[in-house]
Amino acid sequence: MKKIKIEAELEVFDSISELSSDIQNLMNKAHEARNNAYAPYSSFMVGAAIALASGEVVTGNNQENAAFPSGLCAERVAAFYAGAQFPNVAFTAMALTAGSLKHDTITPIPPCGACRQSLAEYEVNQKSPIPIYFMGATGKVVKANSVKDLLPLVFDSSYL
Ligand code: THU
Repeated sequence: MKKIKIEAELEVFDSISELSSDIQNLMNKAHEARNNAYAPYSSFMVGAAIALASGEVVTGNNQENAAFPSGLCAERVAAFYAGAQFPNVAFTAMALTAGSLKHDTITPIPPCGACRQSLAEYEVNQKSPIPIYFMGATGKVVKANSVKDLLPLVFDSSYL
């Protein structure tokens, strides 16, 4: 028997102002998208912005549904839109922000497991890491250098 240790290094920024101007702009687009989220059931508004290697920025927000599982997270709305509109264009960075309409959300909110798996598909295919910056509605910003760091032991097509 041997043990395997899994480690990931995350960076924590005290506020958005500590980020590069490019990433600040990307995060601001995520905030704009969050304001347009359709979240009447959870009141939890999430915005995502993806910078593409071609220079475009694609945004998304969570889209809920009266039949709860039929809704979709902000991250996947953005990633699937990017995949549909700009096929095979690499994601160079992703910014995420989430906030409840019921209380202040000041802790950084990471993407859910299903979104991590969906994002991993793009990262594996493009063969370059996607840095992910995530925050609440205000406050600290966490940077993961890749989806892999948020989803160790990822299941990918190499297993099929
Ligand atoms: N949500 C996201 O948009 N992204 C996540 O990574 C976690 C959760 C949405 C789904 C649902 O509309 C609301 O937040 C509450 O779970």
